[in-house]
Amino acid sequence: MNLVVRDVPRGRGIASGEFRNAMRHLTGGVSVITAGRGSDISGMTVTSVASLAIQPPTLTVAINLKASTLPLIRRYGAFGVNILSGEQTDVAECFTGKDGHKGAERFAGSSWTTGAFGVPLLAEALVAIGCELEEIIERHSHVIALGRVVHLAASQGNTALAYWRGEYITIERNSDT
Ligand SMILES: Cc1cc2nc3c(=O)[nH]c(=O)nc-3n(C[C@H](O)[C@H](O)[C@H](O)COP(=O)(O)O)c2cc1C
Repeated sequence: MNLVVRDVPRGRGIASGEFRNAMRHLTGGVSVITAGRGSDISGMTVTSVASLAIQPPTLTVAINLKASTLPLIRRYGAFGVNILSGEQTDVAECFTGKDGHKGAERFAGSSWTTGAFGVPLLAEALVAIGCELEEIIERHSHVIALGRVVHLAASQGNTALAYWRGEYITIERNSDT
């Protein structure tokens, strides 16, 4: 695996700003990752959740090494993935930490239940998933966390929240389809 990484040519002159601008065109589904137990909790908004394998049910999420949620994921060995509905832009904004709220303060404006390993799960998420941490792979500024799905609660909601070109966008299923 590492041999493959070493074979990738480096320094081909793609500036990070150019790469960031290009990635603005990639539409991302918005989720809130949660971790911790009791009052020792935090969470963060992400677009990097991806399904890795169906059998066993496994997903990945890319997390900045500086994110305050990461130490909680490592400490408790678990995390929650709350896929947001189109009506939950306010939840997404709150969990970016832009308003200065930290840790448990971020949970105050919405309803939460407790999933496996004590992880907080958003009561009105489009889908709420509890994961046991399987592995953490560090690369550059981020880690890739692999989560084994141990709990799943899907709603019947008809809207989803996406992020595209720096804006939240509500995706709505046409009721005729
Ligand atoms: C739409 C959107 C998507 C984001 N996706 C990610 C992501 O995939 N991974 C990540 O590390 N940070 C992502 N962030 C940034 C985190 O939400 C933010 O850095 C984090 O909540 C800060 O947490 P802290 O104050 O607890 O360290 C995203 C932000 C936004 C607005």
